[in-house]
Amino acid sequence: MNALVRMAGAGALLGLVGLMAGCERPPIDAVQHGYRGTGMVQVYNPRTVDKLIPLNVVPEALPAAGADGPKAGEVYQNVKVLGDLSVGQFTRLMVAMTQWVSPEQGCNYCHNPQNLADDSMYTKVVARRMIQLTQTVNGNWQSHVQQTGVTCYTCHRGQPVPAQTWFQAPPQDLKSNFIGDKAQQNTPARSTTLATLPYDSFTYYFKQDFPIRVAGVEALPGEYGPLNRASIKQTEFTYGLMIHLSDSLGVNCTYCHNTRSFGNWAESPPQRVNAWHGIRMVREINNTYLEPLANVFPASRKGELGDVAKTNCATCHQGAYKPLFGASMLKDYPELGAVSRQSQAAGMPTGVLAKVLFEVNQTTLPADAKASIEQVAARMKGFPNVKLDISGYADRTGSAAKNLEIAKLRAFAVRDALKAGGVPDSQVNLKKPEFVIGDTSGNSRRVDIVATP
Ligand code: HEC
Ligand code: HEC
Ligand code: HEC
Ligand code: HEC
Repeated sequence: MNALVRMAGAGALLGLVGLMAGCERPPIDAVQHGYRGTGMVQVYNPRTVDKLIPLNVVPEALPAAGADGPKAGEVYQNVKVLGDLSVGQFTRLMVAMTQWVSPEQGCNYCHNPQNLADDSMYTKVVARRMIQLTQTVNGNWQSHVQQTGVTCYTCHRGQPVPAQTWFQAPPQDLKSNFIGDKAQQNTPARSTTLATLPYDSFTYYFKQDFPIRVAGVEALPGEYGPLNRASIKQTEFTYGLMIHLSDSLGVNCTYCHNTRSFGNWAESPPQRVNAWHGIRMVREINNTYLEPLANVFPASRKGELGDVAKTNCATCHQGAYKPLFGASMLKDYPELGAVSRQSQAAGMPTGVLAKVLFEVNQTTLPADAKASIEQVAARMKGFPNVKLDISGYADRTGSAAKNLEIAKLRAFAVRDALKAGGVPDSQVNLKKPEFVIGDTSGNSRRVDIVATP
């Protein structure tokens, strides 16, 4: 008997050693982050934090340049965004951009040295759009970046390609249909720190705008049927996203939630509101600034599905609760702080201009969609170089081939309506129809109209 107890004890000890091997070595810092007794504590490994500190040092600012003298827009030939700056300020920003994005490659990473006004290098076309992106984030998204703001360095850190980006994952091949739809499970991926959660939450929340909220609002089904509609599958997508939020900020769930009730906003720390705006900001960065560059980036920079690299929380945060631990570079570069007059005046249509929703099995344009398509057509007048990408979506219930066919016919209907509104064929680009996984709401029966430069 005694021997048995001893054996069990030894087994437990071995088990414990085994468990500990998966843990982080003490000492660990714990910082209280909410009311005492609510378990709102942040746990930090000081060695991980130590490693992050040198990676978040801000490069020294260049000496300021005067605002006097002729404007860049008058002196140079092909300045479309920064024309309001003095030549001194313009040159200083070019030098800073070189330090932030291509310190090894220099000015010629974006420029044809024979002619600086030439737009033949794709990197220059991308960089121009990136200046507008940075101005929009700083000027229109202070609900997230506050006065701290961002510069090219926040994402690029001295590299032409930011370290943390994402591409859309290809859909599972269902041809043999032996295992069925895995719903992106059981395929460990970095995006969920190898947890067995769906590996591509990003497409649904950072490109599309699927509902993130899944918690039931009632204990029992309501009078008119169940109020708690979210499936377990949908919930797992939400958790996949939440793991990314925590991981990219180097925090745990209690940084934004009181885990007594994840859904309750009143009990959540203020950081959750900041994160809410962050999710919307990331969508705008991806849909209005990055996706429309798909025709500009070379194939070698694109993902398996031909999409461009996109932003998530880690692109800026890179493991820190605030990028660069909250240091502001923007104060030294105020020209990146507001949307410049030239960007505004241009009024060029960009990003998602309209989403046209369809009834089940219907391929004719719903009556209420006509007005929004006419608006799009009106906005396109005077912009012969802007193209419209027309993408049809279908959900994954029922026959795949039939759904894709329906999505295609819906895209045709939208194209015809645009044509009737005066947008010529040459400005319309029909994309391959796509599936939306895990959703049977009306949102997936749609056609998006996206303007690209
Ligand atoms: C990361 C890309 C990038 C790098 C690196 C870069 N530039 Fe530029 N440059 C641009 C963009 C984009 C424009 C156009 C800005 C606009 O449209 O407002 C531009 C425009 C210019 C122009 C105006 C040319 C004209 O006549 O229209 C000059 C001059 C210039 N850059 C000089 C430099 C110098 C000098 C360097 C190196 C110190 C440099 N640039 C590095 C992206 C870059
Ligand atoms: C919110 C993050 C973010 C900010 C801020 C940002 N970029 Fe980018 N940049 C990206 C992403 C994402 C890509 C696409 C990377 C890829 O192709 O894999 C990119 C690509 C580029 C490229 C193309 C590089 C290549 O080799 O293909 C250039 C050039 C560039 N950015 C310049 C700039 C400049 C200049 C600024 C500041 C005015 C800036 N970026 C600000 C995220 C950012
Ligand atoms: C950086 C802040 C942040 C962190 C960290 C975070 N969340 Fe969230 N969480 C949010 C925000 C913001 C929402 C609401 C999103 C929306 O409505 O668009 C949310 C929503 C949720 C929801 C849905 C609530 C509802 O109303 O249905 C759950 C569940 C959830 N989070 C769980 C977690 C878990 C588990 C973790 C840790 C792995 C975590 N969160 C970490 C910010 C965060
Ligand atoms: C374009 C760069 C950028 C991206 C992308 C970004 N953030 Fe931020 N975030 C910032 C900056 C800059 C701050 C600092 C603002 C300040 O000083 O309060 C910040 C602050 C925060 C804070 C407040 C931290 C605190 O302790 O007050 C939270 C929470 C946060 N971000 C969450 C997110 C989440 C979640 C995402 C992805 C959905 C995200 N961020 C994407 C730039 C970014």
